Amino acid sequence: MISFDLTVNGQPRSAEVEPRATLADYLRGDLKLTGTHVGCAHGVCGACTVIVNGQPVRSCLVLAAQTEGAEVVTVEGLSDPDQLSPLQAAFRRNAAVQCGFCTPGIITTMHALLTAEPDASEGRIREVLSGNICRCTGYMAIVAAVVEAREHYRKAQVEA
Ligand code: FES
Ligand code: FES
Repeated sequence: MISFDLTVNGQPRSAEVEPRATLADYLRGDLKLTGTHVGCAHGVCGACTVIVNGQPVRSCLVLAAQTEGAEVVTVEGLSDPDQLSPLQAAFRRNAAVQCGFCTPGIITTMHALLTAEPDASEGRIREVLSGNICRCTGYMAIVAAVVEAREHYRKAQVEA
């Protein structure tokens, strides 16, 4: 077993994992943060995306032990229990969810994008979204939701 410390959704954690455990294994299995979904387990679908030190990362491709000292944010960390995040609320308003399997990975990916690039164009949003596979909603509503939520990130940047 490997032991190390990290932060998950703002909380300090002491992990003890098998050397081959992925970050997705640790988040889902040990911390029960099952909002992180595992689809392909090969880095293709994007469903498992979480944010590590501000960057979107495919948690099926990262060994848990590689996140020693890192700040990890999962979809659960983007809202509080009483209030949807701006992206989540926009997805709801735009009916940008059907089965929801892809949704946590898309939300985390788009949060990382809009935090780093609050002026991202629709073309840029589509480009980054192309790494996340949705097989049932279709992308029109998803793009509309992200474009709508973008205003929140722009305002947050101005106020910072
Ligand atoms: S489950 Fe990680 S990219 Fe598909
Ligand atoms: S909502 Fe079902 S795969 Fe995207």
